[in-house]
Amino acid sequence: MKTKMDYEDIRKSPFITWLAEVYKRSERKEKVIGIELGVFKAAHAEYIMESIDIEKLYLIDPYEAGYEGEIADDIPEARDFAAKRMSKYGERIQWMYNDGNEALKKLAVKGVKADFIYIDGKHDYTSSLSNINHAVALVKDKGFVAGHDYLIRSNPPIEVKKAVDDFLKDKPYKFFTAGSPIPDWWFRISRNLWMREKTRIMLGILAEKDMSYLLQRAMINNGNDGQGVMLDLMFYLDNWFNHDNEEKTIEGKC
Ligand SMILES: C[S@@+](CC[C@H](N)C(=O)[O-])C[C@H]1O[C@@H](n2cnc3c(N)ncnc32)[C@H](O)[C@@H]1O
Repeated sequence: MKTKMDYEDIRKSPFITWLAEVYKRSERKEKVIGIELGVFKAAHAEYIMESIDIEKLYLIDPYEAGYEGEIADDIPEARDFAAKRMSKYGERIQWMYNDGNEALKKLAVKGVKADFIYIDGKHDYTSSLSNINHAVALVKDKGFVAGHDYLIRSNPPIEVKKAVDDFLKDKPYKFFTAGSPIPDWWFRISRNLWMREKTRIMLGILAEKDMSYLLQRAMINNGNDGQGVMLDLMFYLDNWFNHDNEEKTIEGKC
């Protein structure tokens, strides 16, 4: 269970401490765009601002009654407390008093791309998994999706660990966790790794199903253009998946 004291301890988030070090070592020049989902009294948000050279930090929290957990009674006063605490950062902060997924969708429509998103809103399985999915769509290549409470607990339910593990099951991203007794979790988005993993799976299907004629076809179409071959193969296989695995459908579409 988080106690009120824990909320000030959140200031020392292992993810943010680690990220600040990564940016320092890489001598990063560009300023950072970050998002925190679930802000409460802004202990973590303030630590982000103190640790990283932030251009803009979007702070998302609906501050609605009905939140589960021991902080429920403090939610109404938390909004004003956090606003006051963060006011010293002026335009570098942007508040969004919305549900997390709704806010992330709005940011996506505006074309915002974040270097990191830290998730600490609702902790049940469904909310956690959908927050992660919305976050991934907003994070830049080589950016981070992170959060608090890499745990399983009941009453009120904390199922973040299961949601993170399930999300990552078929993804090639590098995963990190640190902190005790309430660990942070984070992974780095890599479109390159994702592409490699897709290619590996695709080649496996080609071999297993003896669909080498597709490879031949892609090579005839593209000659020595490796990227063209891969793109054609993806197109063929995508059709194959989307048409009840009928090989003749691919033939028809090729
Ligand atoms: C565990 S607290 C966050 C603690 C915070 N990270 C800190 O530094 O202390 C969870 C917060 O999530 C917020 N919350 C509740 N429902 C939410 C939702 N649908 N989307 C985003 N945040 C939500 C609550 O209002 C609450 O302030």
